[in-house]
Amino acid sequence: MKTLVVAITGASGAVYARRLLEVLCEAGHPVRLSVSPAGAAVIQQELNVARPQAAPSEIIEELIAPWSEQIETHPHTDLMAPIASGSFPTAGMVVCPCSGGTLSAIAHGGSGNLIQRAAQVHLKERRRLILVPRETPLSLVSLENMKQAYLAGASILPAMPGWYHGVRSIDDLVDFVVARILDQLELEHRLMEPWGAS
Ligand SMILES: Cc1cc2nc3c(=O)[nH]c(=O)nc-3n(C[C@H](O)[C@H](O)[C@H](O)COP(=O)(O)O)c2cc1C
Repeated sequence: MKTLVVAITGASGAVYARRLLEVLCEAGHPVRLSVSPAGAAVIQQELNVARPQAAPSEIIEELIAPWSEQIETHPHTDLMAPIASGSFPTAGMVVCPCSGGTLSAIAHGGSGNLIQRAAQVHLKERRRLILVPRETPLSLVSLENMKQAYLAGASILPAMPGWYHGVRSIDDLVDFVVARILDQLELEHRLMEPWGAS
């Protein structure tokens, strides 16, 4: 099974990250996870994980509790972690959700924390890097950063669900975005039928 790197940063949409982790782990993929402090705060706020003001490590531990055997976590300050090096093999990296701040850092070669460094590694090694920004409206700065990251090799996959697949619940909208991420990683899934399949 392929090792995937997942990073969670401080944009809204923690529910996408939780579902992504669930699907990857249920499919048996080992995951290396790093969460920024802002990412942990948004997880707490949006998913009601741990208590308000809990330490990021406590929030992350509670988030991954169902899959703790498959997910190895790395503090976002740990530049000694294996995923900081191109010598550590991975099948790709997803930043979900990706804040405008992290998008900017990745687009401009920043590597001041493990998430940014691992993203630079994926770009330089020409591996899949999928960024899932969530912001609206978009400033020219963010649009230019997306263009720059795209030109450097990243896939820009906004958390922007489609409504054409018989949506009945919020879960269907979440699965739409996660399905698109898995498509980019070229991982099989059964989250939704391809258009025209039925
Ligand atoms: C509750 C909350 C929601 C936020 N939502 C977004 C968002 O949707 N998109 C975004 O780019 N930033 C958002 N932010 C701002 C980022 O968290 C902030 O810019 C942070 O510095 C990003 O740091 P990081 O990239 O290290 O996670 C949000 C912040 C909070 C507290």
